[in-house]
Amino acid sequence: MTKRQLTRPWAERVDRVSPFRVMEILTKAKQLEQNGRDIIHMEVGEPDFPTPAPIVAAAKQALSEGKTHYTPALGLPELREKIAEHYFLTYSVSVSPKQVVVTAGASGALLLTAALLVNPGESVLMADPGYPCNRHFLQLVGGEAVMVPVDASNDYAVTPSLIEQYWQAKSCGVLLASPANPTGGILSLQHLSELEAVIRKHNGWMIVDEIYHGLTYGERIHTALESCPDAIVINSFSKYFGMTGWRLGWMITPQELVPSLEKLAQNYFISPPTVSQYAALAAFDAPAKQEMESRRLAFKKRRDFLLPALRELGFGIPNCPEGAFYLYADAQGFTSDAYAFCHQLLDSAGVAVTPGIDFGANNTQQTIRFAYTTSVERLQEGVERIAGFLRQ
Ligand SMILES: Cc1ncc(COP(=O)(O)O)c(C=O)c1O
Repeated sequence: MTKRQLTRPWAERVDRVSPFRVMEILTKAKQLEQNGRDIIHMEVGEPDFPTPAPIVAAAKQALSEGKTHYTPALGLPELREKIAEHYFLTYSVSVSPKQVVVTAGASGALLLTAALLVNPGESVLMADPGYPCNRHFLQLVGGEAVMVPVDASNDYAVTPSLIEQYWQAKSCGVLLASPANPTGGILSLQHLSELEAVIRKHNGWMIVDEIYHGLTYGERIHTALESCPDAIVINSFSKYFGMTGWRLGWMITPQELVPSLEKLAQNYFISPPTVSQYAALAAFDAPAKQEMESRRLAFKKRRDFLLPALRELGFGIPNCPEGAFYLYADAQGFTSDAYAFCHQLLDSAGVAVTPGIDFGANNTQQTIRFAYTTSVERLQEGVERIAGFLRQ
């Protein structure tokens, strides 16, 4: 049979989307496992725990009741109510259910936000290193990301003076994350309100990705809504609630934006996944919360083991990350090509970690993200293997 030739190339934008290196590492790790190798997974950005049992039970119940049709584009009204109530119970913030938009993961919320706010040619400021997909959401709507270099000296946080420095005539907002991926840093209430003041001065949008809320290990974390009621806050059931594969998230927005978001959501997604929404109704109740709290404590134990262990080996992690499940380490003592280092570490020691270049261009060729999404015993084994690899 002759090979079919495509008559046209695909769109140019595809070439501007960088591949996810972590997926490359994961695929290689799985191949090695298939060949019988034991691999320690410290690359994956999702909890190793399964979805809490009460959430799974609620999904089964919904399926058995035939709840498999579309829901309203903004989400089930009862779920929007639960999410609004969550803000009152957790942060003492009053949010109307009418401000809640249920989405297909935080990813769906980020895409809707880009489509809603960014005109072609406009830009949004964001931290480098940061979550890599954000710049691609912007690109899809003809916008652009302005990468703001952040480093350990200010806990990898965008500061008001950095916003002043990087704001451009065509900038329309700032996208922040707290806790952040890959650094695990969190923004204090004071910091959030200082950022809001400068963003407001420029008449920009303040967008805050709070997907790792719930997974914090120090003082109580604050939602941006506590100091900036007009912020657009994005969250998800993926991380704290252990529901990555259910593809469910939400956003809280000023009510005036909701009709436009509804129109976009209807057209792009019709509705968020129905069974996942019924499952999520159980996510805020005590039985699920108990499971999630014990997982949070398990993550804290893992961080408390891994952070000193990696420092001891010579990785540079000056600050203690207070959230998420990542340690972002400077590996310049060992390599100036962390991407190659990660491949060598996987090949020779069977430890999978993520190269910093996944998260931007700011000194990322010498950094590595370690995810503590596996047990303390496996992390111990991982650290021993890394030590052996470094001695070679
Ligand atoms: C900072 C951040 N935002 C958004 C997402 C996307 O999450 P979701 O599974 O809710 O689409 C991720 C996933 O890793 C993330 O780390």
